[in-house]
This record gives sequence, structure tokens and C-alpha cells, in this order.
Amino acid sequence: MDIVDFPALTNDQRAQAAQVMRAGFAPIGAYQGEAADAEVTTFFEDPDRFALAALIEGVVVGFVGGIDSYPKAVELHPMVVDPAHQAKGVGAALLAALEARAAAMGKLTVYLGTDDEIGGTSLFAAEVFPGALAKLAAIEPTSGHAFFFYRRHGYEPVGLIPDANGYGKPDLLMAKRVAKP
Ligand SMILES: CC(C)(COP(=O)(O)OP(=O)(O)OC[C@H]1O[C@@H](n2cnc3c(N)ncnc32)[C@H](O)[C@@H]1OP(=O)(O)O)[C@@H](O)C(=O)NCCC(=O)NCCS
Repeated sequence: MDIVDFPALTNDQRAQAAQVMRAGFAPIGAYQGEAADAEVTTFFEDPDRFALAALIEGVVVGFVGGIDSYPKAVELHPMVVDPAHQAKGVGAALLAALEARAAAMGKLTVYLGTDDEIGGTSLFAAEVFPGALAKLAAIEPTSGHAFFFYRRHGYEPVGLIPDANGYGKPDLLMAKRVAKP
């Protein structure tokens, strides 16, 4: 597997990245149709955005984006692996590459929001008030969620946006230090 910067992608590979986005986010109905192409395009055109693609035999099987949003922190957005290539370490490799890139940029922190829109954590369909942070600290998997993938890779829950996507559908905020201060 190779990991390359988005500007190095051919037009075909750029289209593959959009297709990976459609396939990876299909279960939550996000980034379907031209929305995926539009999102991929932002990583070529917005100077505050960059992305790294994972290629297997020249075909894009996943990518991770970064948004240069704070002096010392980068937002991870999005992270997606083609369902046919999930659970083979592609996501872990992309995460490590993004963290190395953020550190090379002089950043201390990578942070992200991971939505629980369809269930997978104990906070789905739950009332989070009062005591939202205590409930976040006690979060457990129900059917499995990317939250636990990130946590295994050193991301800590640092907050949440209650009902961000509807009642009982929070956005879970996580962060990891990627360089020494
Ligand atoms: C999250 C994602 C990028 C992980 O990529 P990946 O290539 O499968 O990751 P890896 O192979 O490195 O690691 C897979 C591990 O994460 C777990 N995992 C990842 N996403 C999971 C999910 N949604 N539900 C349950 N487990 C998940 C796998 O069970 C596996 O666990 P293991 O290491 O104990 O076997 C991928 O599942 C994906 O694209 N999901 C759809 C889009 C998405 O949810 N993106 C994140 C939005 S914040």
C-alpha cells in the first residue's frame, strides 16, 4: 500500500476517492452522488485543507483529510476506507500518516468529531443531559462505531455536541496529542 498526497492523484484516482466516499458513508446516507465529488474537490482547492490517499496497486482504497483550523491543531475530516478493504489496517495507516503530517506542520493536536447517527455507542438515543461529560466518559460500544477505532489509536473523548444530528444523535469529539509541546 502507498500513501500519497492528493495533488499527486490522477483524475481517475480523484474519481475513485469520491466513489470510496460514497461507498463508505452509504450506511449513514452522507456524501452520496455529487456531494462526494464536491467534498473531494475541497481538498484540491481550499488552501486550509489537505488529504492523503491510500493506494493499492494504483487504486484509491481510502483517504483521510485534514483541516488546518487552529494554530496548533488539525481537524481530521473525513476518514473513509472502501468497505471492501476495511479491517485490513488501511484506516490505521492513514491515521498514522495524518498524525505524522500534522506533527511535521508543527501541530500538537489532531481532533475530530465522529457522529453517532445510526447507533453503535451507548449514547445513541440516550438523554445526555444532565451530566453529559460523565456519560461520555462511560461510553460503551453497542454494535460498533468508529469512536472505538479512534480510541484504540490513542484518541480521547474531549466533548460532545448533544443531539447534533437529531435527538439522541450526538457528535462525539476526540483528540490526540501528536507532538511534544
Ligand atoms: C472507520 C474506518 C475508516 C476504519 O478503517 P479500516 O481500514 O477498517 O480500519 P483498520 O483496518 O485499521 O481497523 C479496523 C478496526 O476498527 C474497527 N472499526 C472501525 N470502524 C468500525 C465501525 N464503524 N464499527 C465497528 N468497528 C469498527 C474494526 O472492527 C477493526 O477492529 P480490530 O482492529 O479490533 O480488528 C472504516 O471503517 C470506514 O471507512 N468506515 C466508514 C466511514 C466512517 O465511519 N468514517 C469515520 C467517520 S468519523
